[in-house]
Amino acid sequence: MIGRLNHIAIAVPDLETSRSKYKDMFGVTVSEPFEQIEHNVKVCFISLPNTKIELIAPLDNSSPIINFLEKNPSGGIHHVCYEVKSILESKNKLIKKGARIIGSGEPKIGAHGKPILFLHPKDFDGTLIELEEI
Ligand code: CO
Repeated sequence: MIGRLNHIAIAVPDLETSRSKYKDMFGVTVSEPFEQIEHNVKVCFISLPNTKIELIAPLDNSSPIINFLEKNPSGGIHHVCYEVKSILESKNKLIKKGARIIGSGEPKIGAHGKPILFLHPKDFDGTLIELEEI
């Protein structure tokens, strides 16, 4: 069902600090930061030859990643994103097999303008998994 690894997301307390670090230390090209109001986060992407890294920071104190940053104040790996051909087909198959979808259960539009959903980490070895339709 799942295809390529689309990105690994790292939650960070301060997006600008982390953007600069990746640029200066690793010499990579980092996208401009942008806000995702619907998800209450701001993000930027780093393109590597074989995948992307998403740096993700809270927009305010009600952001869904605040809890994660309280437990991991210096940041940490937050989720991995796998590509799927059909988000609805994948969702239905996974629910039938007993997996739980986070939130309303309906796909939302993610950072790349494509439908996404998140699977419950308790069902997947403590790892938050994002599925993105490609
Ligand atoms: Co993501």
